Amino acid sequence: MNVRLYVLQRATAAIMAPLVIGHLIVIFYATSRGLSAGDILGRTRGSVGWGLFYGVFVLAVAIHGAIGLRGILAEWTPLKSKGALDALMWLFGLTLAALGLRAVMAVVL
Ligand code: HEM
Repeated sequence: MNVRLYVLQRATAAIMAPLVIGHLIVIFYATSRGLSAGDILGRTRGSVGWGLFYGVFVLAVAIHGAIGLRGILAEWTPLKSKGALDALMWLFGLTLAALGLRAVMAVVL
């Protein structure tokens, strides 16, 4: 794996770690107060802060997961061509990013 992908995978892991903790805190807060879906949407709709929080989270997951999957495919499948591995990495990463950002838009817009 080239150095850029190696660094990007670790950098995105470092970004995700505090975001996971933040997300868990949000889940505990919402469930302990018995917030309904409507209450939650009332807080997230129009919020630049939550949009940024979950938007960054989604992009970090998409980059991290796609690079990780590329490594697994290179190691565990007969696929050795750099072009094919890169193409699948981009396909998976862009799909994750599109699905995730669509979900973020659904709760923020
Ligand atoms: C806080 C969250 C996360 C942290 C701290 C984290 C951290 C890491 C680290 C340190 C590695 C090892 C890289 C290596 O040694 O080559 C790794 C690998 C990987 N991660 Fe994550 N990760 C997180 C979330 C995720 C998520 C959400 C996904 C899926 C979308 C994911 C998918 C993968 C994959 C596929 C690998 C490659 C495994 C392999 O090469 O055997 N990770 N992660």
